[in-house]
Amino acid sequence: MAYSDIYDGWKSDPEGFWMQAADKIDWDSRPSRAYFDQGPVGEWFADGMVNTCWNAVDRHVEAGRGDQLAIIHDSPITHSARGITFRELQSRVASLAGALRAKGIEKGDRVIIYMPMIPEALEAMLACARLGAIHSVVFGGFAAHELAVRIDDAQPKAIIAASCGLEPGRVIHYKPLLDAAIDEARHKPDFCVIFQREQEVAGLTPGRDVAWHEFQHGVAPADCVPVEGNHPAYVLYTSGTTGQPKGVIRHTAGHLVALNWTMRNIYGVDAGDVFWAASDVGWVVGHSYICYGPLIAGATTIVFEGKPVGTPDAGTFWRVIQDHGVKSFFTAPTAIRAVKREDPKGELIRDYDLSSLQAVFLAGERADPDTIQWLEDQLHLPVIDHWWQTETGWAIAANPFGVEKLPIKKGSPSVAMPGYDVQVLDEAGHPVEPGTLGAIAIRLPLPPGTLPSLWNAEDRFRRAYLDHFPGYYETGDAGYVDEDGYLYIMARTDDVINVAGHRLSTGAMEEVLSGHPAVAECAVIGVADSLKGQMPLGFLCLKKGVETPDDQVMREVVARVRDQIGPVAAFKLACVVDRLPKTRSGKILRATMVKIADGEDFRTPATIDDPAILDEIRTALKGIGYPKA
Ligand code: COA
Ligand code: AMP
Repeated sequence: MAYSDIYDGWKSDPEGFWMQAADKIDWDSRPSRAYFDQGPVGEWFADGMVNTCWNAVDRHVEAGRGDQLAIIHDSPITHSARGITFRELQSRVASLAGALRAKGIEKGDRVIIYMPMIPEALEAMLACARLGAIHSVVFGGFAAHELAVRIDDAQPKAIIAASCGLEPGRVIHYKPLLDAAIDEARHKPDFCVIFQREQEVAGLTPGRDVAWHEFQHGVAPADCVPVEGNHPAYVLYTSGTTGQPKGVIRHTAGHLVALNWTMRNIYGVDAGDVFWAASDVGWVVGHSYICYGPLIAGATTIVFEGKPVGTPDAGTFWRVIQDHGVKSFFTAPTAIRAVKREDPKGELIRDYDLSSLQAVFLAGERADPDTIQWLEDQLHLPVIDHWWQTETGWAIAANPFGVEKLPIKKGSPSVAMPGYDVQVLDEAGHPVEPGTLGAIAIRLPLPPGTLPSLWNAEDRFRRAYLDHFPGYYETGDAGYVDEDGYLYIMARTDDVINVAGHRLSTGAMEEVLSGHPAVAECAVIGVADSLKGQMPLGFLCLKKGVETPDDQVMREVVARVRDQIGPVAAFKLACVVDRLPKTRSGKILRATMVKIADGEDFRTPATIDDPAILDEIRTALKGIGYPKA
């Protein structure tokens, strides 16, 4: 079938389309229908009973795939690689789930997981799914404060953490971060499970912490607990406009049905194939395509603990693809830019046999045409950009490689996937003509697997996504569609920036900068960066009478962001200015500052209070080397 037949088929009969996709999932009790008109935006398969872990693990053992590798852990940082079969995974997850249950974890309880890229992170996620507990994975590059914010919002009964993470050349001590977060949080978990890694044995807090191996001794393994289709499988926090992250909820059944559909139809992957997403379990890509998607499809997934460059070189990606026979590879454009910078002629690529590889998929940020072209020239394979977000959990727009390889237009993530009626709207909410820039919105309902609401924040959900364009979900991205229906995603419409494929809130950074005693007012913007796509840059207005030298304040705010948000924010650029450019109503003109920093032409906004401030901004930026030549 061609893409257009599938898309049109969905449009004419969404119920039939999704019920057919649901046939590929093992149900304890099949849903009576697909769509349920309930909750703020509708729900999917709500009256079915199903278990995620069964579908990701046990059913493959039953189907005779027990000896196939489910997970390969490849860690150039520790110079090791090991595999876990579906049968081993089943027994490890059932044992961990049994131990969690013995400590009181039941269906609906929240469990925070704070772990690096090790198979045990996936096992912890699956053990929660086995019990119907709701996990919330927190990225290891976040600092204690960010973890504390998530503890208070999710109110977990338990936290599962590793003793450490490993970054090139340094050990990230998780235990002090965990302790500091629990100290700071108002909510206290009943207990913490600590997975001790070889590189660091953490001291356990008596009465609160239990060791991963010991607490499983002598406990009966747990079977899969069937849950309702609209039972939350997980909550994943993502950046919004403020320092309070948004807890994106994922319902169980829609997640299973949609991810399973994408593995074959988008990524061209079936049971027995090897799929690799080089991301982190702390991000949505890690949830959907390191853990759940490949396992639900019965494919082997790779858990990679390394970087695109420096572990040990820019050939690492190609080595992993060769060693494990990867068929489909998913990474962020920034990672390819890092590889290209180190190995511009692709000489390292030629050292490896990449015959297993059929396509490379890029997402997480805009894929610039130069990066796609370079990779195509090196690999002579399709390089497929696709666009989605934490909220949707799977691609809104893609080139459906597993169905039909549509012509690739560089700079476009191609076309809408079934389930998504994507529209480009003007400020008044009217669809615009092809080629005209506007806000990208999706006509409701959203498909299975997307967010039904935000955790503990239905009002915020409505305000952030639904109120602006009634009848639509507002993506927060701006762009246009061309005459052939190809989408082009150009910018965010809010204060979210994208640094090395990581979604970060400038509002959250501003809250941290404002907390410095010398800072009266501040603004953070994202400036263009040739490697990371964007980098945060802060403008600080100091309080009258402050005697601390400017460069000391700047060093201190950089340290604060690292300490309170985490190194992943990559906040390293700041400058002191007397005033910030504002509209007469007091709104900071961030977009104009971005244009000045990027050296782009711009029109002085008619509503600006005092145009002379723009010259002051220009001078301050020049002082720190912006715009770059
Ligand atoms: N735990 C602790 N610290 C972490 C971390 C983690 N899990 N991940 C990153 N960090 C730290 C890094 O060590 C670095 O610290 P530093 O400031 O002391 O050097 C900082 O956070 C920034 O890290 P990173 O964004 O990885 O930048 P980098 O300069 O080390 O590497 C790239 C640049 C492009 C190689 C890297 O950003 C990369 O691999 N990006 C791909 C991202 C990706 O796959 N995103 C998934 C979305 S699909
Ligand atoms: P996250 O929720 O972290 O996955 O980030 C989602 C955001 O990243 C989107 O809303 C976009 O702004 C951006 N993004 C992700 N993929 C793409 C892509 N292929 N092209 C352009 N922007 C993208």
